[in-house]
Amino acid sequence: MSMLFTPKKIGNVEIKNRFVRAATYEGMADQSGRVTDELVSVYRRLAQGDTGLILSSFMFVHPLGRALHNQLGIHNDEAISGLSRLADVVHKGGGKIAFEISHSGRQTRPELIGQRPLGPSAIRRDPTFFIKPAAMTIHDIREVIAAFIAAAGRSVTAGGDIVYVHAGGGDLLNQFLSPYFNDRTDEWGGSAVNRFRIVREIIEGIKASLGNIPVLVKMNAQDFTPKPGVTPELAREYAAMLAEIGIDALELTSGIKFYSLMNCWRGEVPIQELLRSLPAWMRPIGRMKLKRWSGKYNLIEGWNLDYLKMVKPVTGNMALFLVGGMRRFKHMEQVLIRGEADFICLCRPFIRQPDLVKKFREGVKESTCKSCNRCIGAVSNNIPTRCYFGGLPDKQ
Ligand SMILES: Cc1cc2nc3c(=O)[nH]c(=O)nc-3n(C[C@H](O)[C@H](O)[C@H](O)COP(=O)(O)O)c2cc1C
Ligand code: SF4
Repeated sequence: MSMLFTPKKIGNVEIKNRFVRAATYEGMADQSGRVTDELVSVYRRLAQGDTGLILSSFMFVHPLGRALHNQLGIHNDEAISGLSRLADVVHKGGGKIAFEISHSGRQTRPELIGQRPLGPSAIRRDPTFFIKPAAMTIHDIREVIAAFIAAAGRSVTAGGDIVYVHAGGGDLLNQFLSPYFNDRTDEWGGSAVNRFRIVREIIEGIKASLGNIPVLVKMNAQDFTPKPGVTPELAREYAAMLAEIGIDALELTSGIKFYSLMNCWRGEVPIQELLRSLPAWMRPIGRMKLKRWSGKYNLIEGWNLDYLKMVKPVTGNMALFLVGGMRRFKHMEQVLIRGEADFICLCRPFIRQPDLVKKFREGVKESTCKSCNRCIGAVSNNIPTRCYFGGLPDKQ
């Protein structure tokens, strides 16, 4: 039997195989951020398809940390009953689930949260929406730490098997870790130890309140900002700090949505779909910019693998999650056999083929996802995430 089908423990939780549905925004929550029947069906299909561990989409822990209209929220106790429905269908299918707790910080828009977005420092207008955030006060930081810890508690009450903390993708914790976004001179910035403090306090708080629940962190290993943010060298330092506070698993990723969108997923630039999401006045400049990106982000199978190899020596006995561009069964298997990662995370392949694990078991050799990225174009247009290889539906 292939190693991909063997079980492995993360902390005290056994995952039946090494296939993980990577965190995927589904765009199917209702306007209050609650679970819908449509979402339950997505999770049921993934679990019935034999997926070992299902990571949810990023969920806002605080109303100011919301990034998208149809995003799931985990910011109050009313979220729990809906999330339990997701956990139940996953458990019935024999899988495990972790809810990704997140705060978008500066990576959101005032229309969505009703005020200027918050960030570690009031610097740098981003090149996508030209937003300069307001700097967080100590009170704001304390509120966010408490919100993450409370959200972790809700995720476990709802049936989450692992606590999953989002510190990548350019969202708030990534912003604190990055010297490009964080130029604070107090105890929350100025050195790697200080920039890491918010992550440390969140995870220590989670551990203090939830005991030995396993903790998985998704962190950037390379931000691709115009000047260095989180770099592989810095990611290695942070990984050593994560090991010291005893997290159980680490997933490394790259790219910042508002700065280096295509580095987050690579593949084809969905020019038409992204243009469609822009207001008319932005389209000419948008077209020029997107055309310049074309052909520069071709899919690289396992593009985060080198980062994973680089940090591995400092990660102790954490389970390592590889995400990004994994498409061929043989390649995934070799990564495990060589001991370079313990779990394989797939996002777009599961959007296209929720039953991919079953298909692999039957002998299929690779995912049919073409990395055309029209599913990303759907997110930008507020259309629920599905495979739109044939094109996006018309606007309703
Ligand atoms: C439509 C879509 C939605 C995504 N949503 C999230 C998300 O909610 N949280 C997150 O951490 N990453 C998210 N990602 C990034 C994926 O988890 C993954 O890191 C990336 O797509 C690369 O993996 P892949 O090549 O298997 O698609 C999303 C990616 C796509 C394509
Ligand atoms: S639209 Fe379908 S084929 Fe294209 S990247 Fe998304 S899942 Fe893959």
